[in-house]
Amino acid sequence: MSENIDTLLKESRVYQPTAQTKAAAHIQDYESAYKKSIADPEGFWATVAKELEWFSPWTKVLEWNYPWAKWFVGATCNIAYNCLDRHVKTWRKNKVAIIWVSEQDQERVITYGELYRQVNRCANALKKLGITKGDRVTIYLPKVPEQIVAMLACARIGAIHSVVYSGFSAPALANRIQDAEAKLVITADVGFDRGKVLNLKTVVDQAVANSPTVERVVVLRRQTPGVALAAPKELDWHDWLKNEKAVCEAEPLDAEHPLYILYTSGTTGKPKGVVHVHGGYMVGTYITTKYVFDLKEDDVYFCVADPGWVTGHSYIVYGPLLNGATILTAEGKPDYPTPGRWWDLIERYGVSIFYTTPTAIRLLMRYGEDWPKKYDLSSLRVLGSVGEPINPEAWEWFHRATGGDKPIMDTWWQTETGSIMITPLPTVPLKPGSATRPFLGIEADVVDSAGNSLPANAGGFAVIKKPWPAMMRTIYKDPERYKTYWNTIPNCYTAGDICHKDEDGYMWFMGRADDVIKVAGNRLGTAEVESALVSHHAVAEAAVIGKPHKLVGESIKAFIILKQGEVESPALIQSIKDQVMTELGKIAVPSEIDIVPSLPKTRSGKIMRRVLKAKELGQDLGDISTIED
Ligand code: WT7
Repeated sequence: MSENIDTLLKESRVYQPTAQTKAAAHIQDYESAYKKSIADPEGFWATVAKELEWFSPWTKVLEWNYPWAKWFVGATCNIAYNCLDRHVKTWRKNKVAIIWVSEQDQERVITYGELYRQVNRCANALKKLGITKGDRVTIYLPKVPEQIVAMLACARIGAIHSVVYSGFSAPALANRIQDAEAKLVITADVGFDRGKVLNLKTVVDQAVANSPTVERVVVLRRQTPGVALAAPKELDWHDWLKNEKAVCEAEPLDAEHPLYILYTSGTTGKPKGVVHVHGGYMVGTYITTKYVFDLKEDDVYFCVADPGWVTGHSYIVYGPLLNGATILTAEGKPDYPTPGRWWDLIERYGVSIFYTTPTAIRLLMRYGEDWPKKYDLSSLRVLGSVGEPINPEAWEWFHRATGGDKPIMDTWWQTETGSIMITPLPTVPLKPGSATRPFLGIEADVVDSAGNSLPANAGGFAVIKKPWPAMMRTIYKDPERYKTYWNTIPNCYTAGDICHKDEDGYMWFMGRADDVIKVAGNRLGTAEVESALVSHHAVAEAAVIGKPHKLVGESIKAFIILKQGEVESPALIQSIKDQVMTELGKIAVPSEIDIVPSLPKTRSGKIMRRVLKAKELGQDLGDISTIED
């Protein structure tokens, strides 16, 4: 049927787990664990929930009023209590919670006990400013420990945090402050980006000037002499906390009490405030962190994201802290001061779990395999990838560069899903380029637009068939927009991604439904064509778009970044086209290839094909507030 998506990519490599990986894995047999979880998802999630602490129990695991879900109905809990108090009561009190490294290699090591005290001081300070349960606090901080402290302090008293990535401009920040009607903004004087100083305070000044709900601005001053503050509205972070007591009881909250709003635009349209809650989100992030990364007490866990994105919320802050893990977090970019930056950090801190993105891997690939070779990466045990389809070429490179025997967890999920949905576990056989199978308790499928399940290898829409605890509860102040996720295809959650399942039930994500290219009656996902392009030895990155074409509907145009040292020539362009021809066939060969120095990306590193297309067709670029640069 022409409505369905064609799948061209054939990837046959399979990697079995090593004996070492299997030895002590939490989940030894995915197949049976999955079957059991899906036979009784509510039972599965309730069992997980019991590993955490609740102030009072639930009366019902799930109340499902399509499309509105409530999990752990009637229970009270607090996610910050589970991240801190639960550990401080045990030997973990003096375990390292956070190792933080700045771009200039300044280091801070914070134990669970110390994090607990700092969060409590901050929670008391929030109360002193009149922040109470349900109030919104915008956190516009660079990647410093205070960002995590502020998030947990809000959670502790039931205030709702809205973390805005510190790379956003004043209008984008103002927009998010105003939508959330925040009373307080927490910021810093500066952030650093590849040695460049970013004046965050100036951005906040502009944003707050147009945001009447903001009563106070707290500023973490990193530079001396400190930036001038206008009292009484502006406060210094350290003065603010100085006299506060290190004890502040966690507020018992309804399991459905909102924990945070996180604005996401995806790659299109006006930002939407995705709302997550304490109870279900806590259960989902806790168990996925534990099982997907096979997290153990002695691991050093390094996730490169920024808490400004959902990956940072779920897999730097909440998931790892709920597990009592030791977290490494580093300010800065993968190639600054050198492309050895992350490998160096892995060696220095003995990192055992490393969670990164395909964009970063492709960036590091450009600098060659000699960089990782310079470092001792033998501490690594489990690797992760998130954010985009990881093309088999980048997967293989990452695998090789890290020793050739560590499993890569290609985790598919979204800001809206809250926790990882489609993912291998370390003991699952891996196919490079596939996010493999649904996580325990998650029922996923590939369907046509009417919701019919598609046969193996037919491309269609990725959907989730049942509610799960960490799912978003609504879009802030826009319930209608929330409903569209559950109304687009009947009886399921539509992610907006296209995908196919192979004979083994492995899921292969092929890009966003909005970006599908229609060539001569075929519908192609962007990921496959881009993957074929970057499998050429000279190509570092690629993006493809469809251009209206009189005869074939759309023709494919590719934008390409070459690897270091490669030079553009007609012969090179032809050999790139030949490569796509061999990998996917004639239908997928781009009719035009442009060599470009960079690609438009969101600040979280996703290619904005919509912007490439609008530019190519001379159309209005639309909302580009999320664009990097
Ligand atoms: C979109 C969600 C989830 C945290 C970071 C991004 C794409 C994400 C994968 C993956 C293929 C992926 C999807 C999804 N995506 N992970 N492993 N394989 N695609 O969160 O900004 O909400 O983006 O990212 O298109 O819908 P987000």
